[in-house]
Amino acid sequence: MKSKILIIGACGQIGSELTSKLRQLHGIDNVIASDINTRNLDLVNSGPFEIIDAKNFNAVKDCCKNYNIDTVYLMAALLSATGEKYPMEAWDLNMNSLFHVLNLAKGGTIKKVFWPSSIAVFGPTTPNKNTPQHTTMEPTTVYGITKQVGERWCEYYNQRYGVDVRSIRYPGIISWKTMPGGGTTDYAVEIYHKAITEKKYECFLSKETELPMMFMEDAIDATVGIMESDTKKIQIRSAYNLAAISFTPEQIANSIKKHIPGFQITYKPDFRQAIADSWPKSIDDSAARKDWSWNHKYDLEAMTKEMILQLKKKYN
Ligand code: SER
Repeated sequence: MKSKILIIGACGQIGSELTSKLRQLHGIDNVIASDINTRNLDLVNSGPFEIIDAKNFNAVKDCCKNYNIDTVYLMAALLSATGEKYPMEAWDLNMNSLFHVLNLAKGGTIKKVFWPSSIAVFGPTTPNKNTPQHTTMEPTTVYGITKQVGERWCEYYNQRYGVDVRSIRYPGIISWKTMPGGGTTDYAVEIYHKAITEKKYECFLSKETELPMMFMEDAIDATVGIMESDTKKIQIRSAYNLAAISFTPEQIANSIKKHIPGFQITYKPDFRQAIADSWPKSIDDSAARKDWSWNHKYDLEAMTKEMILQLKKKYN
């Protein structure tokens, strides 16, 4: 029998590209996209779509039953910067949506769950270079707290109830199709847009702030890769460290200058600087590489080339 997939939060930065990829792999009608509104019309019009509030258990359950869903990708979340502005909303959405999906899996309505974690699970007491899979985690953001607690619940539901839940700790994700929203790593997307439209960018992080990042194509490959692996290979049921590249605002600006020589960057750190400073600079993802053969393709130069090529087409 063909797998029937539901993506919750399909209009977002990762959800939208994940939906396209899963539709290529499984057929348009086997992949149901959903979001709280229809903000991404290209996505809404590209196949089956339902308006679902991820906080509403009955709405999620009814959709799973109506479509005979066996696999859910829960991509709805409030990210780090927005979470600091609306702490209770971040807690409410990020935790309750996860419980709804885990409980549907526990009850047997669905068989497999993907839930994204983040580098935000780490905090100032974590070793910040080549951060190990298992290490001190004392996140200081509401978003990071929800992701860390969520990881504990995922592992608990796996060990106690046998729920097949899989997760990765995404670094900052860089893409050209859909804008990110409310994250601390969003500068690394905005900078490409501004480089093309204005040839200058004012960065909200300082020039030496190094963070782990990844091009969207790699992030989608990782997501599909972990979900399509044999369940026996998935040894870690909290979330896997995942890494590709690490760079500072100055380094990304220099890579852009190779394509847009007049590009200028200035720095005006805001409240997001403290968030970035609490996160790792680089990540050890050897467990993911060993367990389910994760491998990235894009380095900074290859990503910059692709981002500029695609965004130039988009703006022309
Ligand atoms: N990109 C996210 C953020 O900046 C981290 O997972 O909030």
